[in-house]
Amino acid sequence: MKINARLKKIGDLVEANSFCLDVGCDHALLDIYLVKQNKNIKVIASDIAEGPLEQAKNNIKRERLENEIEVRLGAGLKTYQEGINTIIISGMGGRNIVGILKDSPKVLKNIDTLILSPNNYQEEVKRYCCKNGFYIENEEFVRDSRFIYQIIILKHGKQKYTKKDYFFGPVFLIKKGPLFHEYYEREKKSREILLTLLPKNYRYKKHVIKKEIEMIKNEIED
Ligand SMILES: C[S@@+](CC[C@H](N)C(=O)[O-])C[C@H]1O[C@@H](n2cnc3c(N)ncnc32)[C@H](O)[C@@H]1O
Repeated sequence: MKINARLKKIGDLVEANSFCLDVGCDHALLDIYLVKQNKNIKVIASDIAEGPLEQAKNNIKRERLENEIEVRLGAGLKTYQEGINTIIISGMGGRNIVGILKDSPKVLKNIDTLILSPNNYQEEVKRYCCKNGFYIENEEFVRDSRFIYQIIILKHGKQKYTKKDYFFGPVFLIKKGPLFHEYYEREKKSREILLTLLPKNYRYKKHVIKKEIEMIKNEIED
């Protein structure tokens, strides 16, 4: 079954012998990929909506993996069961992801690894997780068609971060590389466009955006 570059990259970042809960599995393509990796990965594929889960079940059946992948209907981490050590949430807005994590603080205490790939508001996701018992172990960019996505791997523990760390990602700042430059070049451009569109009385918002543009320039033009 064909899997896109984004989901493949997420799958490749899952550690061998993990027991994963994929929240918002949709078609379950990631989960099918994971159990086919021969890395002894167990997966529960869950989704809040019945439609996607029907599609997930059909895909799992087509691959004859009904005995390998359990499918659960439910919101956020309500589908968690004891033993799960890794939570994957990808392809959703960052604020939705934060909402899901906020709703189940007790579950988070039992989790070793969070693998998150928000479509937006990545900074808010990082701030929430790092103020609630996790640190950023790794960050990866992946290009899929014309988009570049962030994947954030968090583990239990404490680490201090600066505003700049949260904005760019502490690991990205160390690793940098071509995708970092391309990603933040795009972020800079979108902010420059936004500046031209904002009405005059949005003075504070404009000030914040200008500061962010300066911050980005300093990082990508060194
Ligand atoms: C755009 S799809 C992403 C699918 C897949 N995770 C990916 O990365 O391609 C988002 C899925 O998340 C599900 N979803 C949204 N909010 C949810 C929540 N609070 N709990 C569980 N699933 C949720 C939606 O029903 C949808 O199937």
